[in-house]
Amino acid sequence: LRYDGGDQTFPLLAGTEGERAIDVKALLSGTGMTTLDPGFGNTASCRSEITYIDGAAGILRYRGYPIQDLAQHSSFLEVAYLVIRGALPSAGELKDFADQLRTNAPVPDEMRTLLDALPRNGHPMTLLAAAVNTLAAYYDDSADPTDDDQVETATIRLLAKLPTIAAHIHRRTSGSEPIDPDPARDYVENFLAMLFGQGTGDTELDALYTRALDLLLLLHADHELNCSTATVRVVGSSDADIYGSVSAGVNALFGPLHGGANQAVLEMLEEIRGMGGDVDAFLEKVKAKETRLMGFGHRVYKNFDPRSREIKGLAADILARQERPDELFQLALELERKALADPYFTERKLYPNVDFYSGVIYRAMGFPTNMFTVLFAIGRLPGWIAHWREQRKDPATRIARPRQLYVGPTERPYPA
Ligand code: MLT
Repeated sequence: LRYDGGDQTFPLLAGTEGERAIDVKALLSGTGMTTLDPGFGNTASCRSEITYIDGAAGILRYRGYPIQDLAQHSSFLEVAYLVIRGALPSAGELKDFADQLRTNAPVPDEMRTLLDALPRNGHPMTLLAAAVNTLAAYYDDSADPTDDDQVETATIRLLAKLPTIAAHIHRRTSGSEPIDPDPARDYVENFLAMLFGQGTGDTELDALYTRALDLLLLLHADHELNCSTATVRVVGSSDADIYGSVSAGVNALFGPLHGGANQAVLEMLEEIRGMGGDVDAFLEKVKAKETRLMGFGHRVYKNFDPRSREIKGLAADILARQERPDELFQLALELERKALADPYFTERKLYPNVDFYSGVIYRAMGFPTNMFTVLFAIGRLPGWIAHWREQRKDPATRIARPRQLYVGPTERPYPA
């Protein structure tokens, strides 16, 4: 390597996965070696005590508790409390938490007017992000990130109001009148009632749907530094308020590569149905790289996504209640069985992820596909809040400022 002045970047091993470069300016200013890491795939930008993932072993824990144990023994609200506050709540703490959420569920009339003024045909995620952002304006008494009491209030308001806002948006985009929150109902039960009205008329099925949605929200509660959570932290690192930071997270989640994957799975299953249900022919197309196997593989899991195991059982319970066998679910089961029996997929560590069955369940419950990502956002909210709060308390936090490697021209004479 020869340095002859200027601020050039010298590529070493350019074009390989581990592309590195010596950024001379950085070297001279004392910040040292810069590693090109697109998508921050290998860059730890924070320390966190919230979620542990071992992608090779297929392990996921919130605050140390295995996801399977939480899925079997806890509710979404308990897990939200755990993720945000660091410990499982006692019975009294849980009751207080649930009561606070109940009391704070309504949105102000002015905000309902705002929601009613948003375009009916807008995507629910666009509308949700806008609504969350404006919470800082409706509740400017809880938008100061430096005040502990205000942060507590904002935490409760966000958790309490997001389902109300999401249900309002769903009712309007599907052409029906919004339904107010009912203080007599529990969190998830209330959300379903605001979305769909009085339920299916079958109390057992309603209870199963409530349990299913509770579990799906719980399984999505946090997933360490994925795209949306990293976004919340990056925006929050400038001391932006929690509402604006979470709104940024909603927008990040809206990207089809992040929150849209379960919708893509349904579209894939439809494609297979269009091929006469020929799963073998579809898998051959995947191998020939003519199409993609959606809902399989994950950036961090090189094994089963532990969330997918819990969801598969749930899908079976729900679909067993349907009058006619669900063709897409049958295709999903066959696809999973055949792909896992084929070394082509297992050698590439392609195992079902959380999105593989969640869309099938949401569809069976009557959710339109444009609401799938909204459900993901409501599930992920505790994680976003926890990360925003953790960062705020960490003395090591600095405003995010990733480096870039400049690869454009060196100084050019301005044309005369
Ligand atoms: C998530 O739960 O956020 C997704 O699996 C994406 C991710 O973790 O990268």
